[in-house]
Amino acid sequence: MSSHPSPAVVVDPDRGMHTREVALRPAGPGEVEIEVRAAGVCHSDLHIVNGDWPTDRPLVLGHEAAGVVTGTGAGVTGLEPGDHVVLSWFAPCRRCRKCAAGRAWLCTETRAVENTLPDGTTPFTDADGDPVWPYLGLGAFTGRLTVPESAAVKVPRELPFEVGALLGCSITTGIGAVTNTAEVRPGESAVVIGTGGVGLSVVMGLALVGADPIIAVDLSPERREAALRFGATHVLDGAVTDVAAWCRRELGGVDHAFEAIGSPRVIETLPAMLTSGGAAVLVGMAPTGATGAFDLFDLADQGKRILGCNYGSSVGQIDIPKLARLYLAGRLPLDDLIGATRPLSEVEAAFADLEAGSGLRTILRP
Ligand SMILES: NC(=O)c1ccc[n+]([C@@H]2O[C@H](COP(=O)([O-])OP(=O)(O)OC[C@H]3O[C@@H](n4cnc5c(N)ncnc54)[C@H](O)[C@@H]3O)[C@@H](O)[C@H]2O)c1
Ligand SMILES: [Zn+2]
Ligand SMILES: [Zn+2]
Repeated sequence: MSSHPSPAVVVDPDRGMHTREVALRPAGPGEVEIEVRAAGVCHSDLHIVNGDWPTDRPLVLGHEAAGVVTGTGAGVTGLEPGDHVVLSWFAPCRRCRKCAAGRAWLCTETRAVENTLPDGTTPFTDADGDPVWPYLGLGAFTGRLTVPESAAVKVPRELPFEVGALLGCSITTGIGAVTNTAEVRPGESAVVIGTGGVGLSVVMGLALVGADPIIAVDLSPERREAALRFGATHVLDGAVTDVAAWCRRELGGVDHAFEAIGSPRVIETLPAMLTSGGAAVLVGMAPTGATGAFDLFDLADQGKRILGCNYGSSVGQIDIPKLARLYLAGRLPLDDLIGATRPLSEVEAAFADLEAGSGLRTILRP
């Protein structure tokens, strides 16, 4: 039997973004049912809304969330009702070669990126009985959802839901980009272009590992101000400064250049910011099909590297609880990343916050 319908934020290829009532089927084998308590608004939701990443079917948006387990299906052994969980948007299969090798962020069998549960179904139906699909296998802009056990990571009860929500995407991605993807060492230099929720988390990660200097670049003065609070040693206005020329002139190039926007034009400028042997880290996600050009002789001659970064090269079951413990021990100022908290009915305003680059990460409360 399905639950009573509740409002969900849906993007439909024909109708755009709107609120639609959806019913949820109960958890099947290996699945857990979750009551969503907080959901962050990430640029990866906006990429769907604005058509950067086209969808051919209606999706329940939202992929950065935390909540409480309300039910478990047959065979679920690691979670029980009442557990607090952070949702992971890249539910690993736990069986493929990449998962077996401990590289869950590269799982080749996950169906999450096809916006379905692992068996290819959706737990949501609308009032006409038509399926509505879970964005990245979650669909967190609604009151309740059903996910495979591997997409729900148990966290301590003391962890605020708002912080837990952001651990579901921006924080784990940004800090993981530093610690896992780039393996930044103390005293190495880094530049971060774009300091929204993800880029500020990169800055936080750089501060955590003792990178120096840490140069943050954004167009928004408010975001540059925030970057200083999270540990940037220098801030630059990307609209007026040639960042690559600045990095070469002031530092002889940096060891690491992180892009956290998803702009092909900006990504193309990363290698010129690097010192020899340095790494460009692509954290921002470009529109589907976008390509870029690099100085190929310079890359080979200077031994520069270009690293893709999915989910901060993180293993959710390990990295999310680890970051939660660092936060609870006072080592990461994650509260400072939380901006406005709004009810689900204010989703339009929440996306306007994101597009304006004003405030920090907006949280929706279903
Ligand atoms: N790699 C991953 O697994 C992963 C995970 C989450 C998000 N993302 C992607 O990361 C990107 C950032 O996400 P977000 O939620 O932090 O977005 P956001 O909109 O909150 O932040 C983007 C920031 O970039 C700034 N900006 C835009 N153009 C700029 C320019 N030309 N120069 C300097 N700054 C500029 C904006 O002012 C804003 O502060 C998105 O593409 C998102 O899809 C990737
Ligand atoms: Zn995200
Ligand atoms: Zn796998």
